[in-house]
Amino acid sequence: MNQHAQTVSLSAIQQDFNGLDTGYRLADGRFVRRHYLDSAASTLALGCARRLTDVLLPHYANSHSQLHFSARIASHALDWAHAQVLRFLGADPVDYTAFFAGSGCTAALNRLARGLAARRPECKLVLVSLMEHHANDLPHRKQAGRVVHIPLTGASPALGTVDLAALADVLEQHPGQVNYIAISAASNVTGIINPVHDIAALAHAHGAWVVVDASQALAHAPLACSDTGAPERALDAVVFSGHKLYAPGSPGVAVVRRALLEGQEPDEVGGGMVEDVHLAGYEIASRFPDREEAGTPNILGAVQLGAVLNVLQRVGMAQIHAAEQTLLADLLGGLAALPGVRVYGDLDLARSPRLGTVAFNLAGLEHGLVAAALNDYHNIAVRNGCFCAHPYVRELLKPELWALELDPDAEDAVATLKRQQGMVRASLGLYSRSDDVAALLAGVGDLLARPAYYRAQYQTTADGNFVHRTFTASAESLFDPEAELTRILGDLRC
Ligand code: ALA
Repeated sequence: MNQHAQTVSLSAIQQDFNGLDTGYRLADGRFVRRHYLDSAASTLALGCARRLTDVLLPHYANSHSQLHFSARIASHALDWAHAQVLRFLGADPVDYTAFFAGSGCTAALNRLARGLAARRPECKLVLVSLMEHHANDLPHRKQAGRVVHIPLTGASPALGTVDLAALADVLEQHPGQVNYIAISAASNVTGIINPVHDIAALAHAHGAWVVVDASQALAHAPLACSDTGAPERALDAVVFSGHKLYAPGSPGVAVVRRALLEGQEPDEVGGGMVEDVHLAGYEIASRFPDREEAGTPNILGAVQLGAVLNVLQRVGMAQIHAAEQTLLADLLGGLAALPGVRVYGDLDLARSPRLGTVAFNLAGLEHGLVAAALNDYHNIAVRNGCFCAHPYVRELLKPELWALELDPDAEDAVATLKRQQGMVRASLGLYSRSDDVAALLAGVGDLLARPAYYRAQYQTTADGNFVHRTFTASAESLFDPEAELTRILGDLRC
């Protein structure tokens, strides 16, 4: 974004998403608008960013071709997307590079885990927090000698942020052994924010690096990589997913200090990242980010994501964050005030600040039943289960799971545990409105008022899921790709 770029109003952008008017017919026969409260999984698409790719499409070509007009345009657009990433994250383009990888942050985290393990094989320890998504846990388990899970503050179910004192203790107990700390900027389950810059200062004081999974943070709040006012507080690597940042179809992203990559063969090799290849060997390009992007990049997805980041900056992340916090207060306060609702994570926002994600359960109603009924009777899209963060969810649920006193040898023990081990999660995006929150609170209130009615509508499957007894709405009946394509072809009169 250049410094004279036109600013954009938040309210204008909030209207410009694909899918705001999507409606479905419900179990009671009503056809109503969907309330999309699953942005922590994937966000809706920002229309203007997609329209930019429509404008680019007539020029689409491979960025590895060089001389024809379209190839030059494609390369320039891809460079622009890289620049938007660095600018959005306040990452100094001299010290940092941004590269695209895979379809979410998982590919970037696997690459970093492999690369950092190879870079400092003598440092066998990696520290992660107990709240990590599997994407920021398993790659380190696979590559590092040993992973230590740092506990969280508070007690279950009111767990807070990562415990900095416990983190400092582990660093002190293992001088020179910790390669890096991998930490999420915000939890995908509770939205609780970790103090990543304090963690960076702590890590650096002990010779460790810090890798931040910002997948759940960047759509919601400002986050600076190196522009932190103090070099020791700068983050060494930040990864995130474009599909959680209003750009479905865009790649995962890594922003990494060049010093962590230089002088080492990139994890992936192939076309576009070499100076020359002979039968006897090959010479890797020195230029960033080319050397980190083997193969043809997802140019359209990257440009779409670059456009989103540009637009969010024009609106201002501070303003976006403030607006979301107002809606979050209604969501969190509204749920916590309903008798029979248990909200997970520390509710003291001064002690444990959060972004727009809330996980909860209803007394006497399983998470699978609640999520199914919210969808089928209220058209509210939420996610339920363990959200690819099983250790964290189990820790938050510990008192409830103990209270079940399950007999592990009982025939239905596995299905019972599956029904009980999980939560319902509501998560906000830029387009979320107060009527979405009101609909959720009303839906939850109705479930709590008529639990027997809702339970009677569903049967449970052997694997612990809930299926409506009479209402079916198969994905194919709602959207059949074959039929849609045939209709589109019909429009072509071919
Ligand atoms: N990681 C995504 C989530 O938390 C899919 O829902």
